[in-house]
Amino acid sequence: MATAPWAERPAHVPPERVVDFDVYNADWSTDGYHEFFARLQADGMPDLVWTPRNEGHWIATRGELIWDIFPNHADFSNHLVIVPKSVGLQDRRVPSTLDPPDHKHFRSLMDAGMGPQKIRQIEPLIRETAVRLIEGFRADGHCDFTRQYAEELPIRVFLGIVDLPLSDVDELKYWARQIVHPDGETTFEVAAKWFHDYMEPVIDARLGGDGQDLISTMINGNVYGRALTRTEMHNLSLQALLGGLDTVVNFLGFVMLDLAGDPQLRRRLASDPKAIGPAIDEFARRHAVVNVARWINRDLVCDGVELKEGEVIMLPTVLVGMDERVNACPFTIDIDRRNSRNAAFGRGPHFCPGAHLARAETRITLEEWLARIPEFELAASAELRFRSGIVGTVKGVEVKWETAAV
Ligand code: HEM
Repeated sequence: MATAPWAERPAHVPPERVVDFDVYNADWSTDGYHEFFARLQADGMPDLVWTPRNEGHWIATRGELIWDIFPNHADFSNHLVIVPKSVGLQDRRVPSTLDPPDHKHFRSLMDAGMGPQKIRQIEPLIRETAVRLIEGFRADGHCDFTRQYAEELPIRVFLGIVDLPLSDVDELKYWARQIVHPDGETTFEVAAKWFHDYMEPVIDARLGGDGQDLISTMINGNVYGRALTRTEMHNLSLQALLGGLDTVVNFLGFVMLDLAGDPQLRRRLASDPKAIGPAIDEFARRHAVVNVARWINRDLVCDGVELKEGEVIMLPTVLVGMDERVNACPFTIDIDRRNSRNAAFGRGPHFCPGAHLARAETRITLEEWLARIPEFELAASAELRFRSGIVGTVKGVEVKWETAAV
């Protein structure tokens, strides 16, 4: 977000709490994304800091604090979930921007279409899509995993769940990116208007029908014993589209990068597919990609400093799983860890409703990939590029393998 202005330090923010941290424009294109965030936990860094970037906001840097703030809606409201504040206040997606008790009315509409039972029903679609993609490049001996797999699988599966045509993929990805990784090419208002115009005819066609896709079940549901308003239908649909477009893509990229560099882990998962489930918890701990924000609901004291009503605090989910006070040796992937803690999918009532889907997509990817391409490594030509934002990204995960071996 090139244009978000710097803020003056307010008088109640102690100078020693100020850090220069821009979640959208940090210089980490070649550094690991999570490694960059870990700098917020360097020796001497307070548990709570304030950055003048993106109109000025707080950042919780420690796992315990982030863990405690997530479910505390009385003090830290979901009224706003992204920075900067002026943009976060325009973002009215539902159920993200609602607090309990309103939140649950809308959230239950979404859960009905994304619960474990529903995801079990679409497992064949996930598996079929995964196999088709892998078989498409298996004989080549190499692929750009980001472009040829990770950017393809989740969107194809998700468009199946919401029953939208694959031909819309590029446009949807472009406009979602303008919200999740704004690059200054357009504004939040223009992107939100695009989604509104895109959804209008879809809502018209499905309202009152008996479609079983996620959008139909949500817009034909009831809240507070009444039908949804048109605005609520749009806000719910926007949330479903945004949640499903970018997160799994990048999570898969980070997982593949780990496996390409860790033959022992790869061989263990290939020979014991049952270990894949627990391994996903460990990958989620190590590679949490989402950075959410909260609106401070009242003047309060936190970590010994004053926070004012209407200020904004960012909660980088990766700083829970990567905090050595929470999990020992956090940079090490150890699928035998016990009692580890992470907030990759959030915590409390807003816990990610797409987590079942994300886990199923990751598990099936690993099962099908490792069964076909058990040995692979990062290609010498790979140009890894990391970027942060509301979702942290990795691109350029090029991998290669011996074709004789597969
Ligand atoms: C690895 C993949 C994913 C990660 C790491 C992830 C992470 C998160 C996190 C941290 C939250 C909590 C936000 C908050 O507390 O404000 C969240 C909420 C949400 N996620 Fe995900 N997510 C993933 C996949 C998905 C998928 C596949 C979908 C949909 C298809 C989805 C839809 C949503 C929605 C709708 C919410 C808002 C829920 C609410 O506010 O009640 N997510 N996600």
